[in-house]
Amino acid sequence: MRTHLCGELDRSSIDADVRLCGWVQRRRDHGGVIFVDLRDRTGRVQVVLDPDRPEQFRVAESLRNEYVLSIAGRVRLRPEGTENPDMPTGEIEVLGHEIEVLNPSDPLPFQLEEDDITEAVRLRYRYLDLRSERMQSNLRLRHRVVSALRSYLEARDFVDLETPILTRSTPEGARDYLVPSRVYHGCFFALPQSPQIFKQLLMVSGFERYYQIARCFRDEDLRADRQPEFTQLDIEASFVDEDEVMDTTEGMVRALFHQVLDVELPDPFTRMSFSEALARYGTDRPDLRIPFELVEVADLMRDVEFKVFAGPANTAGSRVAALRLPGGSQLTRQQIDGYTDYVRQFGAGGLAYIKVNIAAAGRDGLQSPILKFLPDAVIAALVQRTEVSDGDLLFFGADTEPVVNDALGALRVRLGHDLGQVEDGWQPLWMVDFPLVERDRESGRWQSTHHPFTAPRDEDVELLEHDPGAVRARAYDMVLNGTEIGGGSIRIHRPELQESVFQMLGIERDEVKRKFGFLLEALRYGAPPHGGIAFGLDRIVSMMAGEDSIREVIAFPKTQKSACLMTEAPSSIEHDQLRELGIRVRSTAGAVERAG
Ligand code: AMO
Ligand code: AMP
Repeated sequence: MRTHLCGELDRSSIDADVRLCGWVQRRRDHGGVIFVDLRDRTGRVQVVLDPDRPEQFRVAESLRNEYVLSIAGRVRLRPEGTENPDMPTGEIEVLGHEIEVLNPSDPLPFQLEEDDITEAVRLRYRYLDLRSERMQSNLRLRHRVVSALRSYLEARDFVDLETPILTRSTPEGARDYLVPSRVYHGCFFALPQSPQIFKQLLMVSGFERYYQIARCFRDEDLRADRQPEFTQLDIEASFVDEDEVMDTTEGMVRALFHQVLDVELPDPFTRMSFSEALARYGTDRPDLRIPFELVEVADLMRDVEFKVFAGPANTAGSRVAALRLPGGSQLTRQQIDGYTDYVRQFGAGGLAYIKVNIAAAGRDGLQSPILKFLPDAVIAALVQRTEVSDGDLLFFGADTEPVVNDALGALRVRLGHDLGQVEDGWQPLWMVDFPLVERDRESGRWQSTHHPFTAPRDEDVELLEHDPGAVRARAYDMVLNGTEIGGGSIRIHRPELQESVFQMLGIERDEVKRKFGFLLEALRYGAPPHGGIAFGLDRIVSMMAGEDSIREVIAFPKTQKSACLMTEAPSSIEHDQLRELGIRVRSTAGAVERAG
């Protein structure tokens, strides 16, 4: 239908006769001459239509935004002074001879390049939203990322294999999406939270190196970086140890950034232990672009009069930490109150602080409502330990470890952004030495830090029975600028060990047999040692695109409330269909509401 693409025309095309197809980006009437910016996938070009050809001109007059056209014409240099340096095709234009409307368009519900369209409207008309330059560029970037990852892995002998979508529960810690079976009433498939078990079985099958761009489904509370259905780059290999998995995939991420963004990531990435990360940053996904750190001060606070500090300082499982904010004494009372409210959402009881006017002047150089509770020696030790300088501010968290870590960890990031102290660039790191299990905050039961197939360190296996909390996992996460972009582990390949881990997690023998019997069985038939990792593709692409939300790099995402505003899914089901499935609905929530 066409001879050329709009965005590819330039000086070298002058005098060429071309036929173009595309959409009307904009039509301008300039007293006697009509200009149409015609857009296709490669970009835009200006088409000029003059009244010398009255029939064509009448068509041109009827054009509206987003009409689909076929235009024949000749490329010419733009008259001097009318070039547009902001447009790649800005030196030339096409003098239109023939114009055909392939399809008109209703007036759009919003203008494509407008900034202040609500997300609800964008998602309702996603097919239009995707016409914008931003979304075109994001999704094309996504394609380039996938393509670079595939070629890296394929060059290293990884094979791309698909695994089932209709399956049974694969535990990654979220709720399952379920699909009722018509054939077996009362039975349900679960959509995979990840291909975890299947990729392990492929190792038992001898493939040795597997990868997949895999869709995963998790019914969990959504955030900007979480979707109910998302995509992993899933990887598994046999006869590998932690270092081999980390080296290969670190090389992959470096190659990706080099190839797609022309960015050189550090070689090698920093490795940090889980406990060091919590101690210094309050989180296992520290954003190293932010220069503030937590300092432990519990030992200084054991005997102070201030109960808020002395209590946690003398309690196992609690901590008292200071967050040093260089230059922070500028913060106003009101700002500090705002941050105090902020940390309360993480369970903190308050946010004590000390402003440092003159660090060398001891108590007299400081300013804080809590100074009166602290003896001189403690103040001196605090100043020394936290290495504060004039003009700094110290924030304090005193509570159970999780509360202090969550509160000060989040505050650190918030302050970094609020005060413009986030360095430019990319800070990748590996998080290692995770505990195998953690206590669930509500039930108090042991639960896997990663998933129950993660291998414990050999030297820690004997602790499994009596001190599970002390067992270290052979697991690793890749963190980039404060976001967990990937995580994996060496797996358990011996059935006895897998069974004792299930046992330690409090999963009954019956349940183990029912849910994981096939895996345990497979491990008995010569399962090779194996391990792997999965990367959150959406997260990686959104970061590379400079977007805050992964919805901006997914063609048809769900809302924060797990609905699709365009198709109005999920939707209610006809009675007949339900009857066929043997299902009766007990309550309904009403329909997904579309905007606009
Ligand atoms: P994990 O659960 O850590 O590991 O997931 C791997 C990566 O997937 C991304 N991710 C998500 N992205 C968007 N929306 C979500 N709801 C979401 N949940 C996770 C994160 C995360 O690092 N089977 C194991 C991997 C393995 O052990 O090999 C797994 O799924 O970037
Ligand atoms: P109060 O004695 O409750 O007035 O608290 C004195 C100071 O300690 C205030 O600045 C509170 O915000 C702060 N504070 C209270 N509880 C905590 C806590 N758990 N961690 C840190 N600071 C706290």
